[in-house]
Amino acid sequence: MLHIDLTGKKALVTGGSGGLGQAMSRVLAQAGAAVAVHYGKDEDAAARVVAQIRQAGGTAVSVAADVADPEDVERLFQAVDQALGGLDILINNAGSDGTRAFCADADPAQWQRTLAIDLTGPYLCARQALQRMLAQGRGVILNITSVHEFIPWAGYGAYTSAKAGLSMFTKTVAQEAAAKGVRVVALAPGAIKTPINENVWSDPRGLADLDQKIAMGRPGEPQEVAQVAAFLVSDLASYVTGTTVAVDGGMLIYPDFRHGG
Ligand code: BGC
Repeated sequence: MLHIDLTGKKALVTGGSGGLGQAMSRVLAQAGAAVAVHYGKDEDAAARVVAQIRQAGGTAVSVAADVADPEDVERLFQAVDQALGGLDILINNAGSDGTRAFCADADPAQWQRTLAIDLTGPYLCARQALQRMLAQGRGVILNITSVHEFIPWAGYGAYTSAKAGLSMFTKTVAQEAAAKGVRVVALAPGAIKTPINENVWSDPRGLADLDQKIAMGRPGEPQEVAQVAAFLVSDLASYVTGTTVAVDGGMLIYPDFRHGG
């Protein structure tokens, strides 16, 4: 039987306390990885994920850091070294949509903060991870982008720019690391039911509008993203690097064109 086997692998999931991060942390642990569940602020949520993983017989610890702060990120990776004894997998998942504002009205400080979390954070974490992975000649970095690395989204210029940037960062770093045994891949989720967009899918009118933008006609579940993430960081995906895999129920295939051009 072919199955995703991460036995003996050590993984860090940033934003492991959040919607997608919780599911990815659990699925990685289910596949046999020891998981460091990172959180920025929500210590309780991270502790719950760790407890769930341990109850199911897995290995997990929680680790805190502001991913946008270089020194904090350095401390984060030292904590992971100590707790897990190494690192094979980094999932750069921590992110924020930012505050909705059209460009002319947008607050520069909000722009900076969204870029700091969504683009600088993954860079700082990738940098630390690569220092370890290149030395050992093995490792995988999975950057969680979004369909908004491709689809413009009015009011979210900082977010879309960060995600498009993270996509190109993925390809560039993949090029740097490919011959040295390290894969760098991006996963672009569509509209997945998590707290980040709960204001949309919990409202019947918002949900109907959202469904129309998705070829499959429904938002995704965190588990549906987590399963693909686990595959991509596993050796089953050993020949995949420098590309984005969309997990979006067909948001990127212009579902409106069902009705003719
Ligand atoms: C955002 C969600 C949004 C989805 C589809 C994601 O990147 O985080 O808030 O629902 O894209 O637009």
